[in-house]
Amino acid sequence: MAVQLAALLLPGAILCTFLPVMKVCGAPHIRCAAGRPALLRARAAARMEERIPPSLPEGEKFRKGLLSGGGFWRQTARLLQIAVPMPEGASFKRDVQIELRNGEISLRVAGASIAQGPLQHSVRAELSEWYVEEELAGAPAGTRYFVVDLVKASPHVDWSSPLGGGGGEEARLVIGGVGEAQKKATAQQLATYQALRKLPATSLADVYARPISPPAENATLCYFIGKVAGDHFVDGAAALSAQEVLVKQHARLLLPYVFDGLEDEAIDLWLAPGNSEVRVAQNEITLSRWALLPKPAKLPGVAMCGFEPETHAPGEVPFVARRDASGAPLTGPFQANIQPPGRLSEFLDPPPTV
Ligand SMILES: *[C@@H]1O[C@H](CO)[C@@H](O)[C@H](O)[C@H]1NC(C)=O
Repeated sequence: MAVQLAALLLPGAILCTFLPVMKVCGAPHIRCAAGRPALLRARAAARMEERIPPSLPEGEKFRKGLLSGGGFWRQTARLLQIAVPMPEGASFKRDVQIELRNGEISLRVAGASIAQGPLQHSVRAELSEWYVEEELAGAPAGTRYFVVDLVKASPHVDWSSPLGGGGGEEARLVIGGVGEAQKKATAQQLATYQALRKLPATSLADVYARPISPPAENATLCYFIGKVAGDHFVDGAAALSAQEVLVKQHARLLLPYVFDGLEDEAIDLWLAPGNSEVRVAQNEITLSRWALLPKPAKLPGVAMCGFEPETHAPGEVPFVARRDASGAPLTGPFQANIQPPGRLSEFLDPPPTV
């Protein structure tokens, strides 16, 4: 079923909107390569040898992998990218056959079958493109790559492989990440939180975090890190499932001395009813440990859930709850007669009426 690229150039071909876009490295190839320190080049080559393809910028939290036919795949929130090294002397026109339609891909490069079959999730074929890259960031210098950028129909879904079809079993969204990806996602989810909290059917939940293996002296501390909101039919736990990456990264940024360097799996999240800080502080509430949604459950869309990150003024003491391993208070409830520092005071005011 593979269609020669030459055939795509025929007028009226149904695939004419998929015409490849050629991108060529601005700087002459030799200069790029020579300007890069030998050590970096060696490292990049070693990484590829170790079979860990480099992530795309803002794609560090998404899965990636090697393709058995050669090359690798990686992602961002928006793109799934396939990159295949072009053999010396191979020509784009003569040696590459690619077809993308009806949710299936067929890609052959220099006679090798790279990807054939249904894609794991839907893509927007009309926005997807392919091209030859002279200098692929993170890849060994001196190799040209044939690159396919597939635009995800559902952004933020973390593909576990390019192929597979029907991939509904993969209940994981990646909202957030590191650096700019985290900043952008946080701003977006905060805006959604603020919009959702005004709606009557919204569920709200407060989120606390604790290392899975905390230092013994702090084993009971659960740190308040923010609030999640879920649209109608999306409860707090589901809203948190969709935003797990964002929320855990926020814990690292907010409280680096507690969470920095911990993998997502090493951070436990706990939930309390929305805007319940005072009752939590007074030991009236048992926190419930959050767990990922059961596998077949469908994750809510990104626009259906929001996150309001906790922030601290300089020198502000973080709000913590002391809880045992099951989330229960260590002592009985009491009436707090202290005014806790910083932002907690705002929760002593009557909650806003909807
Ligand atoms: C325990 O928590 C306190 C206050 O949050 C902090 O100052 C201290 O460094 C923590 N101890 C350890 C071993 O992390």
